[in-house]
Amino acid sequence: MAQAAKAAPSQPAAINPAVQTLMSVIQKRRSVRVYKSGKVSDAQLNTILEAARWAPSGANTQPWEFVVTRDRKKMKRIREIYDNEWRQRKREDPVNYKGLKKDYVGDVSVIVLACGDPRTKAVYLTTRQQADREKLFQASMANAVQQMMLAAASMNLGTVWVSVREEVEPELRKLFQVPEPLRLLWVVPIGHARSWPKAKPRRAVWDFAHMEVYDPKKLRPDSEIRPWPKN
Ligand SMILES: Cc1cc2nc3c(=O)[nH]c(=O)nc-3n(C[C@H](O)[C@H](O)[C@H](O)COP(=O)(O)O)c2cc1C
Repeated sequence: MAQAAKAAPSQPAAINPAVQTLMSVIQKRRSVRVYKSGKVSDAQLNTILEAARWAPSGANTQPWEFVVTRDRKKMKRIREIYDNEWRQRKREDPVNYKGLKKDYVGDVSVIVLACGDPRTKAVYLTTRQQADREKLFQASMANAVQQMMLAAASMNLGTVWVSVREEVEPELRKLFQVPEPLRLLWVVPIGHARSWPKAKPRRAVWDFAHMEVYDPKKLRPDSEIRPWPKN
């Protein structure tokens, strides 16, 4: 068995053209943080939202609600909200908050706000622990966002996850009139990349995959639990 793990292929087998196409889109997707002008067409936007529609969700609850904007003024305001927050954090913690890095949230063709309806958590009748319900909710939301990103990448469009931290959430909620009890989870810019970013390094498959039982030799030391690899 241990040998089977060692003999694991370093490249996934290209079984048929559909797999190749899928893998090429998965490997093409990047977090794009510098955009150039250029429209995301309505047809492209619809395809992206259609991809989200087919995401798997806990108990098929489909908790997502997407607010889409093309309004430059609102985008500018999003950018201000993030900039203000970043400046404030930088004053408190100048070491970890270097630079003003959120300019990409305001200069794209389309911004999608990924909102979710947490009332869907009550539908998970066989899941009693709140933390478990939260996992189902967040995972369902993330699936939809990831499918959007893959659809965008397949059309040469860039995207990036932008976290909505507690500090910016109320202002974004107000700007886009997102009602309670919806949660506002991520901001997703969609646009044309100024240049397509290089791939960030990935751990090797057999560093994180384990055959049959967990291989304790692969458990990373605490020092390895960090942005990977450190840059
Ligand atoms: C849940 C989640 C939240 C993220 N939040 C941010 C963010 O707030 N700002 C940002 O620039 N990138 C964010 N990212 C993007 C990651 O930094 C990025 O996916 C990772 O570095 C790998 O790079 P790649 O997406 O180009 O492959 C987030 C990604 C995920 C999955």
